[in-house]
Amino acid sequence: MCGIIGYIGEREAAEILVDGLKRLEYRGYDSVGVVTEDGRLFIKKGAGKINELKEKLGLAQLPGKRGIGHTRWATHGIPNDVNAHPHTDCTGKIAVVHNGIIENYIELREELERRGHKFKSDTDTEIIAHLIEEELARSKSFEMALRKALLRLKGSFALGIIYTEDRDHLYFVRNESPLVLGIGNNEMFAASDIPAFLPYTNKVVFLDDGEYAIVDKDSFVVKDLETGNIRDKKIHEINWTLEMAEKQGYAHFMLKEIHEQARAVKDAIHGNLEIINKVAEEIAKYEKIFVVAMGTSYHAGIAAKYLLQRLANKTVLVEESSEFRYEFEDIVDENSLVIAITQSGETADTLAAIRLAKKNGAKVLSIVNVVGSMATRLSDLVLYTHAGPEIGVAATKTYTTQLTVLMMLAIALAKKLNTVDRKYLMNLEKQLQELPKYVEVVLGYENKIKTLAEQLVIKRDFFYIGRGPSVATALEGALKLKEISYIHAEGLSAGELKHGPLALIEDGVPVVAIAPTGKTFEKMISNIQEVNARKGFVITLGDNEELKKVSQVFLKMPKIDELLSPIVYIVPLQLLAYHLAILRGNDPDKPRNLAKSVTVE
Ligand code: F6R
Repeated sequence: MCGIIGYIGEREAAEILVDGLKRLEYRGYDSVGVVTEDGRLFIKKGAGKINELKEKLGLAQLPGKRGIGHTRWATHGIPNDVNAHPHTDCTGKIAVVHNGIIENYIELREELERRGHKFKSDTDTEIIAHLIEEELARSKSFEMALRKALLRLKGSFALGIIYTEDRDHLYFVRNESPLVLGIGNNEMFAASDIPAFLPYTNKVVFLDDGEYAIVDKDSFVVKDLETGNIRDKKIHEINWTLEMAEKQGYAHFMLKEIHEQARAVKDAIHGNLEIINKVAEEIAKYEKIFVVAMGTSYHAGIAAKYLLQRLANKTVLVEESSEFRYEFEDIVDENSLVIAITQSGETADTLAAIRLAKKNGAKVLSIVNVVGSMATRLSDLVLYTHAGPEIGVAATKTYTTQLTVLMMLAIALAKKLNTVDRKYLMNLEKQLQELPKYVEVVLGYENKIKTLAEQLVIKRDFFYIGRGPSVATALEGALKLKEISYIHAEGLSAGELKHGPLALIEDGVPVVAIAPTGKTFEKMISNIQEVNARKGFVITLGDNEELKKVSQVFLKMPKIDELLSPIVYIVPLQLLAYHLAILRGNDPDKPRNLAKSVTVE
């Protein structure tokens, strides 16, 4: 929900910290702050976006070669200058930046206040600096004080900590919020996410829950918070490039990421060709299958249900992780397979669902984009989506690559279980290989979609309907529109329309009908006619020219099997949402009230 960063080395820290924070801004963007040390702490912070504050406050002009920084997405305390991180103790010698939520902070704050601590902000974070200050008075070392203080915290936290008297080190802690160290030459980094320090190093160390790191400019040590014992950590070299984490001439990351989808889908296919049959082998026997995910990843789960049911003859229950974690304790067991879909691998509810599944003895397969993220470490099996870093808050290329991987899995299972006709499977595989080409075709519709957006910009409510796998496209199309254009939208299965929502269709209300040729095409035509009868504004996406006769706007899609269609059909809907957001003056990369990784419940 927030982004943190740290630097220690031979260069001026502030510039590097601010630059890194810009690449973390997708995690939160209501306030920003930096602290460096040069004999004493130098702090600049405030409410607002990084670029504005960089100018206004001179964020990047602080002295010192070590420091920490923060970009905030408010949880406790409104976004204002005082609540912006870093937060300090009474002596002004300890500063803390924090991503997460301290659940017992009220109790700790009252306790500290009773002992005379004065608080400046309304945040939960500030208590951490004060707790360390107190422990320092009765501990032999800063490290010991830090451990004692942190063991009192309940909740989720990734922390960066700087102490004036300990001039050679920075401290970082992880518990249920992401944190990675970046290993450079005579310099070290730490951040909530890799792109923050990608210009400087691609060598990373992932911290696990309950670990802290003591970092100096040319070495690091990771220890267990409970025992203080040293943990052995592996340095990973990641193959993300800086170009992947930059806009490269596109107006927004979201637009760049939409346009990267042909490449991303190709990488998802190639990256999984070898492993997919092995994974299918391991999960083929399971008949009790749950898919858990949130948001866009949940929509990929909806599509997965149709793929696994139709191709592998498996019954699948798709649940939002936030529901699963509380409702399925007595249901999930050692005979269950839980497929967790999460691009970040850090979504709190999905991690909780995975933990529950593991506790009850289930097998867990995760489908993840971020290498080394928590979900990958908790799961028995992992399939990576290979989409590259996704910076735009709204998921685009991570969704289409999730769908690609799920399709590959369903095909591999069908082959293994002999559940569908071989020839049909071979044809599906052929079309799967051609997906990048189809994605390119629909990306070419951008100008047409821009014109459509101009026509629709005045509309207040949208409906998206589909059947079968296109239900996922309807839900996802509506979510994209809501989150970046702030226009109300509903996605639903077309069959539901006349059970209530049809009451809202009147003259000119846009209804986007996703209608590839398939099992229920004729039924879709009937649903579209129901909308026409109420004078709705019908936009259809399909490969059958018949649709032209029943729509105001028809987008001719490439002919592709219905099961693969969600990967191609969502692309124009992403573009529609993007252009409507732009026309309405919104920043699609940073939608209001949202953050990229939801690491709190
Ligand atoms: C919407 C979006 C979110 C995420 C959701 C789950 O565009 O990005 O709905 O899909 O927060 O995130 P992950 O996939 O990281 O678990």
